[in-house]
Amino acid sequence: MSRFDPSRRRVLGGLGALAGASLLRGQQDPFRDHSRVPGLDEMVTTLDFEEVFRAKAPREIYDYTSYAAEGEFTLRRNREGFSWVDLVPRGVVDVSFIQTATEILGTKMAYPIMASPTSGHGNLHKDGEYATHQATTEASATPYIVSNASSFPFEKIAAAATGPVWFQLYPRQSVDETREILEKAQAAGCKAVAITMDQQATYYERPGHYRNLVETPGGRTPRRPTFHNPYRVPEGRLWYSWKFLDEIRPFVKVPFFAKGILTAEDAELCIEHGLNGVYVSNHGGRSVDYGPSTLEVLPEIVTAVRGRVPVIIDSGFRSGSDILKALALGASAVCVGRTARWGLGAFGAPGVKRVFEILQAELVMAMAQTGRPTLASIDRTLVKTRFR
Ligand SMILES: Cc1cc2nc3c(=O)[nH]c(=O)nc-3n(C[C@H](O)[C@H](O)[C@H](O)COP(=O)(O)O)c2cc1C
Repeated sequence: MSRFDPSRRRVLGGLGALAGASLLRGQQDPFRDHSRVPGLDEMVTTLDFEEVFRAKAPREIYDYTSYAAEGEFTLRRNREGFSWVDLVPRGVVDVSFIQTATEILGTKMAYPIMASPTSGHGNLHKDGEYATHQATTEASATPYIVSNASSFPFEKIAAAATGPVWFQLYPRQSVDETREILEKAQAAGCKAVAITMDQQATYYERPGHYRNLVETPGGRTPRRPTFHNPYRVPEGRLWYSWKFLDEIRPFVKVPFFAKGILTAEDAELCIEHGLNGVYVSNHGGRSVDYGPSTLEVLPEIVTAVRGRVPVIIDSGFRSGSDILKALALGASAVCVGRTARWGLGAFGAPGVKRVFEILQAELVMAMAQTGRPTLASIDRTLVKTRFR
């Protein structure tokens, strides 16, 4: 019998091995029935929420959350940045108690983790920003930075809130209109204001491709953006300047900080122009494509700021060890954008709450494992960077 001529025994043996292997795989794979969408209690990492969100949401809603500028190089680089930072643990340290509470710009928080401002939560869940805020408060009195492009009015979200709310501003070109927005937000009780300085002329390719389809799976034909110039340049925020910032600075009586800072020079300008904080962000890769990851620019910004104001960071953070790396490089707190949206779209308020609980538990674990039991004990000696 040639070795290619299968005997009955070999065929049966082979089948047995196959059956055994798939049985084993089945036992090891908790989501082995892939037609079933996993439940909240099956979420292990924040990334699990993305798959559930993708399964539940119409494609255009899912994609609106996930896409980034142009070829999405910076979106990927934000994640890559974390693999260029090693955590170097110290042993023989008592980590039986881990301290994570902090205070930033006058707001006390149980963990240095906050929710980034992101638009339109009503597309993700019927309770929109109300749900996000309830969840971040329940999880840890985590401040939630409500977007200027929220689905519900800021005043109503703030009135319903039991925990601290901060406000994110997209200024209007008219100083008076901007003043009105700022005064309303402060009257409603926001504890701090972030002014978004980036994303001046972003172009997203993914929805551009959808416009070539007759209809999206949601049944709607996406609108074609109308630009008043021959280029891919939305005019919305092309007129920003530091002078404009100086004009609106007096209207803000609570701590005021700039979001979208990526250089030491701009961080210095933030302080010169009387801002109280620096928020390092590339809008989760939605600002300029081929920009650096925020983790890469964090050290030079921290050096420039010299502890004069807090440095907040976002873009690409998905786990507690990601957060620990930024803290070690000098960030005062980390914000998460998409992960909170995945939680909301997947499970509503309980989903957002669980996302934060996972991040908090992972941060505590990472601090314990690296022998850094307090926020004060986290410093540059915890990391080795190999940025490229
Ligand atoms: C769908 C979506 C909407 C966003 N909307 C806003 C917004 O309204 N205002 C703003 O300042 N930033 C906005 N951002 C940027 C976030 O504040 C944040 O910088 C980014 O999500 C952080 O990256 P991450 O999603 O990887 O955590 C948005 C981001 C996403 C993904």
